[in-house]
Amino acid sequence: MSSNKPSFLHGIDMSRLPRHVAIIMDGNGRWAKKKRLPRLWGHRAGAKTVREIVEAAARLGISVLTLYAFSTENWTRPKTEIMGLMRLLFRTLRAETEELNRNNIQLETIGDISKLPAFVQSDLAKAKAQLAHNSGLKLILALNYGGRQDIIQSVNSLLKEGPGKATEELLERHLQTAGLPDPDLLIRTSGEMRVSNFLLWQIAYSEIFVTPTLWPDFKKEDFYRAIIDFQKRERRYGGIG
Ligand code: FPP
Repeated sequence: MSSNKPSFLHGIDMSRLPRHVAIIMDGNGRWAKKKRLPRLWGHRAGAKTVREIVEAAARLGISVLTLYAFSTENWTRPKTEIMGLMRLLFRTLRAETEELNRNNIQLETIGDISKLPAFVQSDLAKAKAQLAHNSGLKLILALNYGGRQDIIQSVNSLLKEGPGKATEELLERHLQTAGLPDPDLLIRTSGEMRVSNFLLWQIAYSEIFVTPTLWPDFKKEDFYRAIIDFQKRERRYGGIG
């Protein structure tokens, strides 16, 4: 890949890629509003960005990409928007599973998907099964996910093992992200400086990259820029380096 890679990739050190990139995809609504379009059109445009960034991450050789697609707080949105998002997820899965397979991508979810409509749950199960044998990028969709809820359910599992048993390692083993590396890089689009109940435990040492670009306008070049920015940082994990 090194000799003929496109020029915008030249800044990336392929030997120091983040293993796990997590993204808070924000700004679909604002994108639609700016264009005087219904909010759902913003989500549709956002789904196109998902496709572009998943492909870019797979091609780069990133191991894990976690996308915050629906938070536990998103249920407070109007019913029509929630159903629109669910249908969009369903249609996107149907349309893209073959392409995900061609790119050797695995699909997993975190969050309580039992509360999602049955048609989404069954399609998710089908897509996961179809992609289970792949060995490339692990695409994780956070659906009805909340970081606090994740920690709470882990603590509850730990309590069953008896009092005084909690350690960082054990707590991690009961989180929904068990077995995955913590995110090295957390990207948030559309400028908000918040973590919005996403992967709270797991981002303890993540580098955070916030861009004012709205999610539907976020292109693979912006993704590469975030990675280049990440590679310029010195990670000390609380030490002095
Ligand atoms: C944030 O924009 C986005 C979401 C709540 C949902 C993310 C969903 C997608 C990108 C679409 C489809 C996803 C998949 C995985 C196919 P917002 O509505 O909060 O924007 P705003 O803050 O500007 O209102």
